[in-house]
Amino acid sequence: MTSIHNFYAGPGALPKPVMEKVQADLFNYRGTGVSVMELSHRSEPIVELIEDTVARVRAFLALDADWEVLLLQGGGSQQFLMAPLNLSRPAEQVDYLDTGYWSRKAINEAGRCDRDVRIIASGASSDYNQLPTPEQIKTRADSRYLHLCTNNTVVGTQWHRLPDSKAPLVLDASSDFLSRRIPLDNVSCLYAHAQKNIGLAGVTVVAVRKDCLLDNELPAYLDYRSHIAANSNYHTPPVFSVYITNLMLRWLESEIGGLDAMAEINSRKARLLYDAIDNSKLFTSDVHLPDRSLMNVTFSSGSPDGDEDFISYCKQRGVIGVEGHRTRGGLRASLYNAVTVDNVQALVDAMQAFERAQ
Ligand SMILES: Cc1ncc(COP(=O)(O)O)c(C=O)c1O
Repeated sequence: MTSIHNFYAGPGALPKPVMEKVQADLFNYRGTGVSVMELSHRSEPIVELIEDTVARVRAFLALDADWEVLLLQGGGSQQFLMAPLNLSRPAEQVDYLDTGYWSRKAINEAGRCDRDVRIIASGASSDYNQLPTPEQIKTRADSRYLHLCTNNTVVGTQWHRLPDSKAPLVLDASSDFLSRRIPLDNVSCLYAHAQKNIGLAGVTVVAVRKDCLLDNELPAYLDYRSHIAANSNYHTPPVFSVYITNLMLRWLESEIGGLDAMAEINSRKARLLYDAIDNSKLFTSDVHLPDRSLMNVTFSSGSPDGDEDFISYCKQRGVIGVEGHRTRGGLRASLYNAVTVDNVQALVDAMQAFERAQ
């Protein structure tokens, strides 16, 4: 089979060693004689798997005893709701930065929670190609938190430095989780679904500071405290997804060499692709230079027809997933942790060959 270079925005590429390990384990997980999918979530190997996965996340984020880490279901979308419900009380102030598609969804969900939601700054006037500037970000004195999306998957912007804020930050890090270090000094909660950088859809990591949890008498499933009390085993967890996340975390540590090494590789990949765009006479990127995402690179060949042709051209060369988000069109290549420098080189080669053929 020809090699495939996978740039889908999520679910996306998984590392080959992880896939090989899944194949090797499939019928016999850790000597149990059955697959990981067939074991009770209360059995010792699965309880250990959950504990080990949480411990590995804690180590990567360098969290101390002030923090809890949860493995939940419902994806990023469920956290749009659970974060305001758990971290603020009805009618209290909560601030949001509007940086595009997913942040707007988070704002809409908070608006359904009977909170005093305010958009502190918005990138709407630049069609979200630029992040709000530090001068625009003025949180309210009594706000419980400032919510922001660390990487904007759809438009391709990323916070390279978290903004200063009087209120603690709540981060949707779904599309750049564990792709680099994120300083958590002024953060009260971070959430990230797995299907981009750390595995499959089905599991979402939440890291929350204990002193930010409120007793809001929520329905049990929606209350972080139920999941804390049950060590992320409050109900049947998505065991297979947790297992893949565990393998991804092991791969990040042993094969990549940790977060700093991963960040270095991710910068190299992004530089390779942005250089190709900047040196091209055909392809361009609209994103404000300092805000360019290292994870989701959005660009265009200048016309919807040209983009369509390029997408087909790529498919013939085994380069898949370069279509832009359905709301924006254009082109987008997602350079998540499992995407290699060689994969990016294959895309760059396709861009250059396509341009020469015009
Ligand atoms: C940054 C970000 N947040 C949240 C979501 C929604 O996540 P989910 O599909 O897991 O609900 C996405 C989806 O791609 C995303 O990119």
